[in-house]
Formats: sequence, C-alpha cells, structure tokens
Amino acid sequence: MAGKTAIGLDIGTSVVRAVELSYGRGGITLERFGQVVLPEGAIRDGEVVDMEATSQCLRQLWKATGFSHNRVVIGVANQRVIVRQLDLPWMERDELRESLAFQVQDYLPIDSAQAVLDFFPLEELIDPAGARKLRGLLVAASRDTVLANVRCAERAGLNVTSVDLTSFAVLRALGKQNRAEVETEALIDVGARVTNIVVYSGGMPRFVRILLMGGQDVTDGIAERLGVPLGQAEALKQQVAYAPASEDLAAVSRVVDVISQEFVDEVRGSLDYYSASNPGAPVERILISGGGSRLHRLVERLASSTRVPVLAGDPMANLRIGRTGLDDAQLDFVKPLAAVPVGLALGAI
Ligand SMILES: Nc1ncnc2c1ncn2[C@@H]1O[C@H](COP(=O)(O)OP(=O)(O)O)[C@@H](O)[C@H]1O
Ligand SMILES: [Mg+2]
Repeated sequence: MAGKTAIGLDIGTSVVRAVELSYGRGGITLERFGQVVLPEGAIRDGEVVDMEATSQCLRQLWKATGFSHNRVVIGVANQRVIVRQLDLPWMERDELRESLAFQVQDYLPIDSAQAVLDFFPLEELIDPAGARKLRGLLVAASRDTVLANVRCAERAGLNVTSVDLTSFAVLRALGKQNRAEVETEALIDVGARVTNIVVYSGGMPRFVRILLMGGQDVTDGIAERLGVPLGQAEALKQQVAYAPASEDLAAVSRVVDVISQEFVDEVRGSLDYYSASNPGAPVERILISGGGSRLHRLVERLASSTRVPVLAGDPMANLRIGRTGLDDAQLDFVKPLAAVPVGLALGAI
C-alpha cells in the first residue's frame, strides 16, 4: 500500500464500517473496506449506549480487515446534532470563532457551553436594513454524544484524529458523482435508525436534516404486525424484493408499503421545507445510499413523491479500486454502504 492513507470509520446504527483510502499523484484508491454488524441495542438512535459491545466490534473490524494503521475520522449523526441555516452579523472569521457560542445561544435548544459548535459560511448578504450579514450553516452537537463516539473508538485502540458531521461525509462521497449535470441535488443516506439528508447547490451544502427513521422501522413493523421475531422480520423484508408477487409475502408487502410511504412522506416534508426557504435553487435530482436504500421500491416511491429522478449514489465512482480482496460482485454489493466511510476518509485527505 503505497503513499499516504486515511481511514473513515462510520459508527452507524446497526453496523460499524470503515474504509481506507490511499492518495497520491495518480488519484485516490480504495484500499480496504470492512464491516461488522452491531448487536441489537449497542447503539440507540445514533448514540453509543453499550460502549463495551461497540468497541468489541471495532476491535473485530480492525482484526478482520487489515487496515494499515489506526488513525480514524469518525462521524456523528443523531437527534442531539442540530444543523440549521443562520444569518449572523458579518465579522472577521477569528472574531466569529471566538464569539460563536454567544452568538448562537438563542437559536439552540441546548446550552451552547455543552455543545461542540461549528459555523460553515455560505455567502455574504445585505439585509433589508442595510446591515452586512454572513449566512451559513450552524452545526451544534451535544458534547456528550461526540465524546461517546470518540471514547468508544479509543477503547478499541483507535486514535481519533477528527470528528465530522455524517451528512457532510455523504456530500463529500457523492457530491463528486455530479459532474455539473445538475446544480442542486439532494443526497439521502438511509440507515437502520438514522437517515441523513443533505441538499447542496453549486457545491455548497444548503440544508441538512437528520431524521430518526430508517430501515429498522420497516423491520419493526413487520415483526409487530405479523407477530414474528425481528430476525425473521428482517429476512422477510429483504425477500419481498425478490418475490414481490408471492402470496406468502403479501402481508409483508403491505407492511413494507405502508411504512415506506410514511418514510417517503417524511423525507418529502424535509425537502419541501428546503424548497420553501430556498426558492431559487430547487432540487433537481436525488441520490440515495445506505443499507436502507435497498428497500423494495423505495427509489420508485421517492421519485413519484418528489417528482425528481432518484438514482443510487456511487461513492466509488471517482475512486480507483486497489487490492481490497473484494471481487466485482462484492464491490457492487458494498457500494451503497460505503458513502459515509468513504466521505469521512476523503475529509482527512
Ligand atoms: N436488501 C435489503 N433490503 C431492505 N433493507 C435492507 C437491505 N439490506 C440492508 N437493509 C437495511 O439497511 C439498514 C442498515 O443500513 P446501514 O446503512 O447498513 O446501517 P446503519 O444503520 O449502521 O447506518 C437496515 O435497516 C437493513 O434492514
Ligand atoms: Mg449508515
């Protein structure tokens, strides 16, 4: 493995997943991909609750995948992470950094002293009263939730070099797939419990929403309504795609229909909110990724609800493929799963 490498570690809600990218003059190469399924209850709503079980899985991931080092970039995405567009009085960047906690306190449902804050400037503007303003995205994450992820990785012997917003990782991984084909695009990464939505325009993120919804809602619904254990419900959910017309699966199919429609409505609501506040830059296309994006007919459903084309995001579109040990079929299979860890690693390059 030549040259410099970076590892992105995605502590998801049902799986821990990491990729190693190497980079040099020839471009960026995918060197390693690995994942380990987390036990039920290790992570709740995107937050680590069982530290020992999760770090055990991370140790296993490192042992099984053969990464060349243990320095990682990790992501955060849960209900204690807030991202919103905000106009602040214009000021120099240094001053902004120092006064951010004070500036944004009124906009946060949490105490800014307990939060990790960041502000991503998007544009300068003059408000109707003639005052110079700086418009940007405020990211506020509860310190506890960030530290829980960091400690968990450290407990597994990993060295966390930085923490990134999971949605920004998705943008980094999939935004490049858009070779100026569209100006404004929504990226939606669907996990088991958490879905990250990011809308970007002209290369800049405009809107981020973290939904506490995902593929597990469908599995839970099947288990509940059909009275079967979760493991069986998960298998039935995945089978629907292969035999959608089967009579045995008719009841499962109905649950999938109902719950995926609820999910699509929620996503549509977020995109409507974006459109209402950004009338000049309508979403022209959607790319989806994450294990939950494999749900039967989700792509079609989303397309008919939003009336824009929906495509599968490909985080490997701009990567060379190194000696990962995965064959073409396996690479194809992991493609939708790699958006977050690839984006995290790209952030370190
Ligand atoms: N073939 C499939 N059909 C439907 N759902 C799937 C399929 N494969 C994976 N999923 C769902 O993807 C979700 C996990 O998404 P993933 O991105 O892998 O994990 P995480 O929750 O850690 O982000 C689970 O809810 C799982 O049921
Ligand atoms: Mg995920």
